[in-house]
Amino acid sequence: MSKSQRSSTAARREVSPRAGGRVQDRVVLITGGGKGIGREIARLFGAAGARVAITGRDAEALHRQADEFCSLGYEVLAIPADVTDREACRAAVAQTVARFGRLDVLINNAGMSMRGSFRETSLETFQTMMDINFTGAVTMTHYALDHLIAAKGSVVFVSSLVGLKGLPGVAPYSAAKMALTAFSESLRCELWRSGVHVGVVYVSFTENDPGKTMYDAQGNRVPLVRDRNSSTQEEVARAVVRTVSRRRRAVVLTPLGKMAALLYTLFPALSERLIARFAARSGMYGSTPGAEAPGVEAPGADANGGTP
Ligand SMILES: NC(=O)c1ccc[n+]([C@@H]2O[C@H](COP(=O)([O-])OP(=O)(O)OC[C@H]3O[C@@H](n4cnc5c(N)ncnc54)[C@H](OP(=O)(O)O)[C@@H]3O)[C@@H](O)[C@H]2O)c1
Repeated sequence: MSKSQRSSTAARREVSPRAGGRVQDRVVLITGGGKGIGREIARLFGAAGARVAITGRDAEALHRQADEFCSLGYEVLAIPADVTDREACRAAVAQTVARFGRLDVLINNAGMSMRGSFRETSLETFQTMMDINFTGAVTMTHYALDHLIAAKGSVVFVSSLVGLKGLPGVAPYSAAKMALTAFSESLRCELWRSGVHVGVVYVSFTENDPGKTMYDAQGNRVPLVRDRNSSTQEEVARAVVRTVSRRRRAVVLTPLGKMAALLYTLFPALSERLIARFAARSGMYGSTPGAEAPGVEAPGADANGGTP
């Protein structure tokens, strides 16, 4: 059996009728679907026989990726679009529906992380993080919603462990991911009788594409360097596809993530103290008052180690 056949079989197993839903022939729009985790989500849906549209700002990389998928026999459409551009979001949904005739699943995956204490973060950087990670998903959902209602489909938000608890050094990213939770909860209640599924996947430290960048506090793109991760991109992609096929509402990935979520809920004050102490000792999170203690390297991260 060839590699693509194996991947296709695995993908179909992932979304078997027993798992609660079929994705074959369904139309799936994935923001940020040309790189990283989004690319692996697109790969799994494509291999399972879904018709897939992928978006991103880097048109060349996006088309290259779509061509690669098409050469494997997947039906994939590349739509260059920036989620911070309302008109581009509207057009991305319209182009998907024009090409495939419907829209069943929206995966709001596009996102960028950053590093810097709130004190040193410019308001422009804060706004940019909110625009990409939160407002972009809201805008895409706005334009997709009528199609999702018609299809009794799914909308899934790719969040992060920082969407469960605000962490130091990533206030805008945390705030944006947490806002996605509130938005998804409101949406789920409003859409209760519509048949639309709303899911959130809280992703832990995950492997990254070479050359991936994040923002620093002043809004410059800087390389993200991290040598240890708890998930592969494919593992996260499988969790996202399962969230759709089983119509799950919220999924926290990795044992670390589940343990952290429990700790945050049961012992909120203690967990904050532990996090603050770790941040101050590691020096990882920018120059906050009291964070001047000598550096203690954090497990699985360095000064630009990114966040889950
Ligand atoms: N990797 C991790 O450790 C981790 C942990 C927790 C959560 N997550 C979340 O998982 C998702 C994917 O992250 P990743 O690790 O795969 O990152 P990545 O490799 O940097 O991919 C991000 C994707 O989003 C797209 N994107 C970024 N800004 C965009 C914009 N303004 N408009 C449209 N597309 C945009 C990028 O495409 P272009 O560059 O072409 O625009 C790229 O396809 C994000 O939501 C992230 O917050 C990741």
